[in-house]
Amino acid sequence: MSAPVDPDPSPTLLRLVLRIPPGWEETVQWQLDQAGWGTGVYEQAFPAGHLDDEPVGRPEEGTLSYVVEEGERARFLAEFDRLAGILDWPDGGWEVRGESVLRHDWETAWREKWKPFRCGGFVVHADFHQLDRGLLRPDDIPLIVPTGSAFGTGGHPSTRIALRTLRRWWGVRPAERVLDVGMGTGILGVAAALLGAGQVAGMDPDPPAEEQARKMAALHGVEERCRFWNGVLESAEGSWQIVFANLQSGLLQRYAPLLRERMSADGRLFTGGFMDRNAAPTLAALRDAGLRCTRLHEHGRWRAAEFEIEA
Ligand SMILES: C[S@@+](CC[C@H](N)C(=O)[O-])C[C@H]1O[C@@H](n2cnc3c(N)ncnc32)[C@H](O)[C@@H]1O
Repeated sequence: MSAPVDPDPSPTLLRLVLRIPPGWEETVQWQLDQAGWGTGVYEQAFPAGHLDDEPVGRPEEGTLSYVVEEGERARFLAEFDRLAGILDWPDGGWEVRGESVLRHDWETAWREKWKPFRCGGFVVHADFHQLDRGLLRPDDIPLIVPTGSAFGTGGHPSTRIALRTLRRWWGVRPAERVLDVGMGTGILGVAAALLGAGQVAGMDPDPPAEEQARKMAALHGVEERCRFWNGVLESAEGSWQIVFANLQSGLLQRYAPLLRERMSADGRLFTGGFMDRNAAPTLAALRDAGLRCTRLHEHGRWRAAEFEIEA
């Protein structure tokens, strides 16, 4: 049964800004998402000004914001308090600031924060941006992300590292077959198709991802070379020259042997989306599966790694 729709919603919403100990953003986002609060916005996720030399703001670490209905304040704070207790943060290590925002203003404000940016030779922007073509360099490849709730706006450090890795790999050895595990919006798979991959496949169990990824492929005219479906890695078959697995550390550890199985003999694997504190067991699991780490990336507390099959 679907939730009843409020026929007369309040004109204001409550924006709650959480300052949390740095490095806990991913965990808090995941926990609150699981508790039904949607995904918090990591406001620094969209570096502004990369196309027109505006100054790029220094990221304020450990800040997440959630926008909730005014009447939900107490329930949200109780959930967050409970989480802070479980995570055993030190006293004073976190705080919540609340402010009322006009419903209408908020619905447009997040769009203003989302700026086009250049990454790995792609100019990543949302489908609502009117991109000023005059700012593009001759070899820029526009990568348009359809708005929706699937993961993968390109703003997250792990996605950006993946895009740069793709571009570098392509310069060394292009690939015909690319597997995008947990494709979210389809950003990595579509980027590979734009570079020339003949067959791209991707799956994600997050319900909105399939439609959004198909839409993204269609927006770029590469839908015939991209197959995206709702599912988990176990549903993929075949062997692939490039495998993207921008997944959280627990999944990477569990999936290490299966990821190895999906790679062709000359295949390259990108793993991203794990944090410094999880790096050792994640890299060990991938090595134990017969993979050799060829490069480790560090971005703040985020880690990503590239692998080939151990000879
Ligand atoms: C960090 S996001 C990456 C999205 C996109 N590929 C990117 O790089 O921006 C990880 C994605 O993996 C998906 N995922 C979770 N469990 C999965 C599984 N068992 N098999 C495949 N994908 C999974 C999540 O739903 C999520 O969309």
